[in-house]
Amino acid sequence: PKSPNNQLIKLHQDATKLYSHILLNTEIGQPALDYLHQRGLTDQTIKDYGLGYAPNQEILKPFFEERQVDYQTLRHSGLFIENQAGDLRDRFSDRIMYPIRNQSGQEIAFSGRLLKKADDQPKYLNSPETELFNKRRVLFNYDLARTAVRKAGQLILFEGFMDVMSAHQAGVDNGVASMGTSLTDEQIYAISRITKQVYVCYDGDVPGQKATQRALTILREHTQLSLGVIQMPEGLDPDEYRQQYGEAKLASALSTAKETPVAFEMRYLKTQHDVKTDTGRLQYLDDVLKLLATVRSPVEQDVYLTQLADSFQLDKASLRQQLSMIRPVQS
Ligand code: UTP
Ligand code: MN
Ligand code: MN
Ligand code: MN
Ligand code: MN
Repeated sequence: PKSPNNQLIKLHQDATKLYSHILLNTEIGQPALDYLHQRGLTDQTIKDYGLGYAPNQEILKPFFEERQVDYQTLRHSGLFIENQAGDLRDRFSDRIMYPIRNQSGQEIAFSGRLLKKADDQPKYLNSPETELFNKRRVLFNYDLARTAVRKAGQLILFEGFMDVMSAHQAGVDNGVASMGTSLTDEQIYAISRITKQVYVCYDGDVPGQKATQRALTILREHTQLSLGVIQMPEGLDPDEYRQQYGEAKLASALSTAKETPVAFEMRYLKTQHDVKTDTGRLQYLDDVLKLLATVRSPVEQDVYLTQLADSFQLDKASLRQQLSMIRPVQS
């Protein structure tokens, strides 16, 4: 129990409790709690995820020093910023704290969100890489989602913390977040250990669509996985969708708004070209046919070809002929 890692985990557990106490029970936490309520999070969700608040003053440092935690342990925790002279001060200040847990459910890092937009600061500030926290390996909520993923036989991959919590509040517990937009092989490996069916549910905005495209490309290399895409309408992210339409609508969108990766990519490619012009349309068709050349199932190919022919009033036979001229990508 006295291994360096256990010490660091204990530090994170204590910090989580302290931040949570400040959020839920103190005057200085009240604006942060109001903010979360305003976003429609219930006290139950706030507790389920151990959310907290780091006030605009030194709090962890005196707390741990009083308990005689040694300097090197504090230094290695990632919870402090060190100046030239080696003095430590709290890294997180005036931020809502989201504990990040490892696969065993132990707190190993934090992400802190600003209450108000500020131009000179990132919206979410994360713990640095430490002995405990390797960002490439961690998926937010993996520990809690695991059971639900096995039960549902599928996993939903979100971008952000609030999306996972929104889904949870809507009764959908098989969601994890890649915490940003670049999915790693390590994260995919963790996913593939618990399911074969993955739905990418990134934000509906342009960066989210781009990230979806990129995620699909990486996920496809793991050929044992079956993939799908869920996109919220109107460019929303799942949390914004819940705030606008409510939890029941979010739950139903998550279960019904599914499409195949190819259907998503056909839509996405369309936004990348000006299909009202002849050149734009031809380039689009060229891109789509290259995409369809990678589809192995002839029936699936046929479905998309029919769609394409219909929406551009083209002869399906000539589309098919053009498709047959594209050399299939090796796999
Ligand atoms: P988004 O920009 O979509 O934020 O980033 P969000 O999740 O919708 O945040 P809210 O709803 O405004 O609170 C998606 C995820 O990318 C990571 C976070 O994990 C975030 O949830 N991110 C984003 C960062 O790590 N740092 C940032 O500055 C921004
Ligand atoms: Mn309130
Ligand atoms: Mn986003
Ligand atoms: Mn978002
Ligand atoms: Mn959001």
